[in-house]
Amino acid sequence: MDFKAIVFDAYGTLFDVNSAAEKCKRKIGDKWEHFANFWRTTQLEYTWLRSLMKRHKDFWQITEDSLDKSMKVFNIDTSMRSELLSLYKILSPYPEVKEVLKDLKKKNLKLAILSNGTPNLIKELVSTNNLDAFDDLFSIEEVKIYKPDSKVYNLPINKYKIQPKEVVFLSANTWDVSGGGNFGYNAVWVNRNNSHFDILDYKPKKEIKNLKGLLEIV
Ligand code: LAC
Repeated sequence: MDFKAIVFDAYGTLFDVNSAAEKCKRKIGDKWEHFANFWRTTQLEYTWLRSLMKRHKDFWQITEDSLDKSMKVFNIDTSMRSELLSLYKILSPYPEVKEVLKDLKKKNLKLAILSNGTPNLIKELVSTNNLDAFDDLFSIEEVKIYKPDSKVYNLPINKYKIQPKEVVFLSANTWDVSGGGNFGYNAVWVNRNNSHFDILDYKPKKEIKNLKGLLEIV
């Protein structure tokens, strides 16, 4: 297959969403990982709920709202709020990301991020981590509805004037793989934690353990 573009999800796929809470684990204690997972799940639920209610708020505001709820549930001191939020803006990439992007850059393919994050959030993540391989950073703010709405997955299609089947889409989020696959992308699941896929009538085109596996596909 002649692929034209490789499109990456950001949070959980390129950047470790748990790394903000992990950097505070001494202050938060043993519950840091449960807390980080709860924060992430609540954040995603708020994106879906707001899209269904047609009450859009940007991803940064949703990240703050979901943090506030999670801090209450896990009884975390409010003095941690600003530190956790600052760290969320500079999440670390997974260890293989830089090298894989460097190899992909040698191929004649568009490389892009397609994320729920605001344009500023994605730009900051990319620049603080010196990831300069991307041709485009697509944000759902252009359409003001969250994944998995098809308007989101259509953004790279419109810009590059290509077909969904010419896109390889990578996400570690199973629901996002289903969303992109349902739209028509070749959706690849980055199964970093050896977990189980969703039952949402889409089977990933490929399953890889980390992004290095992508180099065998394109
Ligand atoms: C994103 C979320 C879904 O970056 O991880 O869009």
